[in-house]
Amino acid sequence: FIKSIYAREVLDSRGYPTVAVEVCAQCGMAAGAIVPAGSSTGIYEALDLRDMEEKRYLGQGVKKAVEHVNQTIAPQLCGMCIFDQVGIDQAMSLLDGTDNKGNLGANSILGVSLACAKTAAACLSMPLYRYVGGCFARRLPVPMITMISGGKHANNGLSFQEFMIMPAGTDCFREGVRVGAEVFHHLGRILDMEGYSTAVGAEGGYAPDISSNEKALALIIQAIVKAGYQPGKDVVLALDAAATEFWINGKYCLSQKENMSMTTGELIQYYHYLCDKFPIRAIEDGMDQDDWEGWCGLTVELGQKVSIIGDDFFVSSPSRIQMGVQKRAGTGVLIKPNQAGTLTQAMAAADFARNAGYEVIFSHRLGDSEDTTISDLAVALNTEKIKIGALCRAERTAKYNRLLKIEEELGETALYSH
Ligand code: PGA
Ligand code: ZN
Repeated sequence: FIKSIYAREVLDSRGYPTVAVEVCAQCGMAAGAIVPAGSSTGIYEALDLRDMEEKRYLGQGVKKAVEHVNQTIAPQLCGMCIFDQVGIDQAMSLLDGTDNKGNLGANSILGVSLACAKTAAACLSMPLYRYVGGCFARRLPVPMITMISGGKHANNGLSFQEFMIMPAGTDCFREGVRVGAEVFHHLGRILDMEGYSTAVGAEGGYAPDISSNEKALALIIQAIVKAGYQPGKDVVLALDAAATEFWINGKYCLSQKENMSMTTGELIQYYHYLCDKFPIRAIEDGMDQDDWEGWCGLTVELGQKVSIIGDDFFVSSPSRIQMGVQKRAGTGVLIKPNQAGTLTQAMAAADFARNAGYEVIFSHRLGDSEDTTISDLAVALNTEKIKIGALCRAERTAKYNRLLKIEEELGETALYSH
């Protein structure tokens, strides 16, 4: 059973505070987890509790969330069976008493939830993916690898937040990582040659000062070719438009500089045009989180050949996914455990999505850490894709490196791609 739970305030990859939790079981095994945080957060997400003390960490401190773990959650949970993950998560949800973890904060609750699961796995001398997924967990996900950042993730003029590649043509994860890294480095060289900055953004993608989405896509295609791969076959593209961020007064303002704004219908046609011109196989948050008409329209228009993925739109919430099912909006769901608030709820959202025929993609956050839980969760659920940023910056590579280790552990039994 649970012997002790202890939280502290640590830093995330952006240099802002976040919650780290350590759980110790009676058997002496202990494990920890660090909670991530988003920047382009959906309004329907669970609450990320911040102290709002302007003088401390610009208001971003998490002392209150830490206190909630140490003073409120820990006394309630100590003594519970460490293997009773659902019971542990339900007890915390009950203690919080709101739908969005508005009292204790999803950052305090999720930290405890993940640390309990990791400790339970350690007690059984099992890797986390095996503990959570059981004996049939064996698929390595195809990574959606960030190449260029825009939107809220960079301060260039790009309206779309992420331009990604998916190395779907290799027969194992390790080779997929190699292909991805080669394309990334070639892209760096091309940017350098064309006089652009090769500094990277918060998720490790390059953040060159360009303002055309098409130019960004063309540069990536150039890098794929330069690296010796065939765009559309070995390597395909993906976008996270994060359209909620440029939905202003009922219009999609793609470029404020050029005063380029589009209606829902025009934006859908623009995506269609881009998908015809470039081998784009996934579009995340193509429309605003409340533009249901846009989501349904985009799904009808492109859903047959492009994954239409909801992040801010579904916020890892079964009730939002249920609405999506009813209205036939989207074909894929991003799962971010901190949008849900507990591991149980994140897994339930993933299960619900999969049962409804949606593709499931576990995802990191902009503010992340050396914590690699989502790599294990992706393998546990045999998901087809994962989104863990660029192939640089230690908080991102930690998750790729974890998957490399898992693939090696699984040996011959591992599956990848098709
Ligand atoms: P976020 O970005 O962590 O800022 O929400 C990641 C994403 O939008 O996928
Ligand atoms: Zn997103």
